[in-house]
Amino acid sequence: METLRVKQPMTLPNGRVIKNRFFKSAMSEAMADKNNSPTKAHLNLYSKWAEGGAGIVVSGNVMVDRAALGEPGNVVVEDERDLPKLKEWAQTATVEQTELWMQINHPGRQSPKSMSSQPVAPSAVPLRKPYALFFASPKALTLSDIDILVNKFVSTALVAKKAGFTGVQIHAAHGYLVSQFLSPLTNQRQDQYGGSLNNRLRFLIDIYYGMRQTLGKDFSISVKLNSSDFSPGGFTGKEATEAIKILATAGIDLVEISGGSYENPHMFQSVERETIFFLDYAEQLMETVDIPLVVTGGFRTLERMEQALEQKSTSMIGLARPLALYPDLPRKLMNGEMTGADLPRLTTGIKHLDKKIGGLMAISYYEQQMKNIASGRAVDLSRNGWKPLITSLKGHGLTGLYSARKSE
Ligand SMILES: Cc1cc2nc3c(=O)[nH]c(=O)nc-3n(C[C@H](O)[C@H](O)[C@H](O)COP(=O)(O)O)c2cc1C
Repeated sequence: METLRVKQPMTLPNGRVIKNRFFKSAMSEAMADKNNSPTKAHLNLYSKWAEGGAGIVVSGNVMVDRAALGEPGNVVVEDERDLPKLKEWAQTATVEQTELWMQINHPGRQSPKSMSSQPVAPSAVPLRKPYALFFASPKALTLSDIDILVNKFVSTALVAKKAGFTGVQIHAAHGYLVSQFLSPLTNQRQDQYGGSLNNRLRFLIDIYYGMRQTLGKDFSISVKLNSSDFSPGGFTGKEATEAIKILATAGIDLVEISGGSYENPHMFQSVERETIFFLDYAEQLMETVDIPLVVTGGFRTLERMEQALEQKSTSMIGLARPLALYPDLPRKLMNGEMTGADLPRLTTGIKHLDKKIGGLMAISYYEQQMKNIASGRAVDLSRNGWKPLITSLKGHGLTGLYSARKSE
């Protein structure tokens, strides 16, 4: 039988060989303790993912500043206080030549009111209604605040490297701070960080060069970028392509393609049939840039994965939700035990309600399945949407609900 394409190794621009084409995309675990430190639950979950066969496993978003959290239970890495715990995490998750990359993030204006009464952003542009109910209006960053934040991203990455993570991913997608800099809707600055694409890209490029200089040319540095923010007047596909070309020239090792924000949650579509969200865009991009690209969103069957690799629409297969149900899906797809993963269509039984809070239900559901895996319990494949809602309410109260309203 012809070798499966998903099994083929791949070499990154820095020379690092990735053992296969499965890329476990970031999923916020919401498992940190009250000090925002990693816990035993992280170790259990990531050991399952490492044994599960993916070539690259990206962590859930790790925040660079404890004053700016995206949701309860975020891990924060500002300094070396948790180095021993991070080392254990990295050791557990890098067995069998698995790459473990830390996703590094700052929520900017997408930090809920319960987490920051005064969020920061490139410009003082609040989220639109009804989101504005849950997110305070942000304060525009000064030039010296920007310098401090660039340094924070770089120091978090350095701690990741010291701990034994084999790479980092800068979260520049989904409407968080870096993505707020990229979009003309949220970045209305008049200085060198606003206006032209080059200026809007400067924050990301500063972070990238800061990391490259500190971490060295052999360390894997990647970016998760929106193919568009899907808002009129926002960051466009054309701009994303330009940005990726600039990043490729600067020596980025891999770009993951996603799209959307809390206000336009394209990255988290729930579709009846298997539809890969950003594949057409990536296919065009693959023709113009020569770096590894990963499309994430919607992959469910081996057949579609093989097809996408054969058509050179993506270099790797980005997977998130399926791996919160079947952590060993890559291994099982490669050895023929499974041909794909069906995700349950969650429902409260009330159509109108499903439409209104479907995103929230899904987030709570997948978070709980990660917790089930971490504690050795069976995942719950039932369609009952009430269970995750009630568990989330019990765990975090209303705070949890509205921070989980986010749609990624
Ligand atoms: C529970 C949950 C948490 C997520 N957290 C993150 C995150 O921390 N960072 C990120 O870039 N994307 C995050 N995502 C989005 C996924 O990485 C991915 O882009 C999206 O789920 C689409 O891929 P899928 O169809 O394979 O699930 C999260 C998704 C889920 C379900």
